[in-house]
Amino acid sequence: MAKEVFYTAVDIGTSKVCTIVARVGTEGELKVLGTGIAPSQGVQKGCIENIEEVKEAVRASIAEAQHYVGKGTNPGAYVVVSGAHISSLNVKDVMQHGGDPVSVTPQQLHQLIRSSSPQLDETLELLHVIPIGYAVDGLSGVRNPAGLHANQVEMEAHIAMGDATIIKNTVKVVEANRIPVNSLVVQSLASAEATLTADEREMGAILVDIGSGTTDITVFQYGSPWFSSVLPVGGSQLTRDLAVAERIPYHLAEEIKIKWGNVLPELISPEEEVVIPSVQGQPQQVVQRQMLCEPLALRMYEILKLIILRVTQAGLTRLPDGGLIFTGGSADMAGLPELTEKVLGGPVRIAYPGGVTGLPTQLRRPGFSAGVGTLLWGIKHQGERRSYREPEGSTRGYKSLLSKFKRTREKVAG
Ligand SMILES: Nc1ncnc2c1ncn2[C@@H]1O[C@H](COP(=O)(O)OP(=O)(O)O)[C@@H](O)[C@H]1O
Ligand SMILES: [Mg+2]
Repeated sequence: MAKEVFYTAVDIGTSKVCTIVARVGTEGELKVLGTGIAPSQGVQKGCIENIEEVKEAVRASIAEAQHYVGKGTNPGAYVVVSGAHISSLNVKDVMQHGGDPVSVTPQQLHQLIRSSSPQLDETLELLHVIPIGYAVDGLSGVRNPAGLHANQVEMEAHIAMGDATIIKNTVKVVEANRIPVNSLVVQSLASAEATLTADEREMGAILVDIGSGTTDITVFQYGSPWFSSVLPVGGSQLTRDLAVAERIPYHLAEEIKIKWGNVLPELISPEEEVVIPSVQGQPQQVVQRQMLCEPLALRMYEILKLIILRVTQAGLTRLPDGGLIFTGGSADMAGLPELTEKVLGGPVRIAYPGGVTGLPTQLRRPGFSAGVGTLLWGIKHQGERRSYREPEGSTRGYKSLLSKFKRTREKVAG
């Protein structure tokens, strides 16, 4: 298969739609050619609520990015998905061979990945089947069994899925621009591509992308994703709480949150004051900055508790050695690392997108980790297409061999 040269990532967030077009150069380096950022309309908590509004925001974002690149360079887009409808589970699948051990081929492993896909009813769409690890004739912890002689290969895979209708709508708003969707990428997995180090993945880490309407979590263990989930909470709630507390419009609360907000008010001097400008005929107010930050701190504490509850319910018993890594626009919230360290202890860091040489300055913010990571995901997974269902005839040549294998499946986590 010829390598794709141009890559397009489309991130339809609750606050902004971001399209990035990039090119892989002769040395394998990724260069961003065009970026389009449009305010998001019609998205609630990561899900499309008004298709016409979203279509228009996506159109504007894609048009801006393509303006710098020109049309006809676009083989297809990799698109971020988020929303509380996304869920994950881990499954085990086994291939067994009765006679002498045979050499395991990459094609058989590929077939094993496909056969591990659970039979979902039509309300769900499969998004990812990611091998976590293999056990070869009882020897566990094998990363890649291709080429080994074996009687039995057991694979554990991380599976992510989402609501079929919501996903269909996501595809629709992108394809309305005559750009086919190559693949959909769960936001936290995309963000991880641009932020996590290999060491963090190996040691284990919780990657949290806090955006405007969602908080997207993936837990990594032994180098692979182990649990993914999305909470329908995010930075817009902090803004709304501040707007209610100070009786000011949302847009002003957003401005004040970014300029003066801090989610650990004890870091602020009690003497510090903030002037809230006059709005809707009300006189300007002078408020103690510590007081102003109280509702922000309470809400962020709630979000932290929800993150911990979600990963604990999934079976995580302690903070992994790689720690908690925040990205997404709300990771820029002042006081977040300090608050998290105070609540959880352990290593905490704020991650900015990396992995791309010469990334334009405007994309060097945590809010663009998912968009940048989606490009990296596209390069790594090029050739994979949306459907995990078996294309007809794709097992030709392996059927006879595969028919000697007996498959069993065991669901290991929900
Ligand atoms: N400097 C900042 N301090 C606090 N919050 C911020 C800052 N910059 C952006 N945000 C918040 O980040 C959120 C947007 O994050 P982003 O990841 O772009 O969202 P989405 O992907 O959901 O569109 C908004 O709620 C915004 O208020
Ligand atoms: Mg986002």
